Amino acid sequence: MAGVVVVGSINADQVTTVLRHPLPGETLIGTSITVLPGGKGANQAVAAAQLGARVSMVGAIGQDAYAHPATAILESANVDLSAVEAVAGPTGLAVITVAADGENTIIVIPGANAAVDADVVGRSADLIGAAAVLVLQGEIPAAASAAAARLARGRVVLNLAPVIELDPATIAAADPLIVNEHEAALLLAQLTPGSPPPASDAEAVARLRDWGVTSVVLTRGALGAIVSDGDGTDDVASPVVTAVDSSGAGDAFVGAISARLAAGDTLRDAARLAVRVGAFAVQSRGTQPSYPHAGDALPEVGTDQSTETN
Ligand code: RIB
Ligand code: NA
Repeated sequence: MAGVVVVGSINADQVTTVLRHPLPGETLIGTSITVLPGGKGANQAVAAAQLGARVSMVGAIGQDAYAHPATAILESANVDLSAVEAVAGPTGLAVITVAADGENTIIVIPGANAAVDADVVGRSADLIGAAAVLVLQGEIPAAASAAAARLARGRVVLNLAPVIELDPATIAAADPLIVNEHEAALLLAQLTPGSPPPASDAEAVARLRDWGVTSVVLTRGALGAIVSDGDGTDDVASPVVTAVDSSGAGDAFVGAISARLAAGDTLRDAARLAVRVGAFAVQSRGTQPSYPHAGDALPEVGTDQSTETN
């Protein structure tokens, strides 16, 4: 089987840095603006490829000045882009604001990503069918993710970020489903309408498993992750680091877990490596430019590598 196939979004990220996020109606002077490659799908593909996985990307870019910046690191990471189609109109664009504390806000304009439909996916049926691991997120139309999940014969990693309405069969195909606490709560509200919001991360995981999700990885930022599958439910601790820019750290986690699953790791071992990759990524600016390469020293769990910030 081939390695990792990511069916998903490709964006150019317009990253603005500010001391703090503006309030509604407020004008602030920012400190910098740069255009960097992004998009959750592309970020995950780059993270997996830089850790040594063989990765193909299925998606779309537009025919504008952002198409090249959006794919520059996919290219340098040797991600196979032969199934990325160039469509009329703009490339996906994300407007990201990063405050001095590392917290971000993101607005995504889908552009070409909205053109990734079941037909685009169908043209890559052989590629998807041969993948050891298929990776999906919530930034392309639901019908495309559903079509890809139906074509998969390997493991399906579903990172439901952002939460969109997927058919139950696609969610049931996930092994693992990867969500943060907010996404878990939104998904539970969809799957079990009228139920109260989960009182804890552990309860969210248990309820997703009860619904029928084969395995769940709930990401908890600096707290690490909860991994739950047929072998039980375990906490995975994260290294302690200083966050400079947390945007795309979740994507680094998903790419890393996918690369390790494709290499034959257990879900727990893959998650233990992935939290360290996510911690590496928050330590510098941007999404893809902050991801490690195989051989980079990753932060260790249990040693405090943070520096005092005020
Ligand atoms: O998860 C971070 C990503 O979300 C950014 O790269 C941006 O493009 C949006 O898709
Ligand atoms: Na980063």
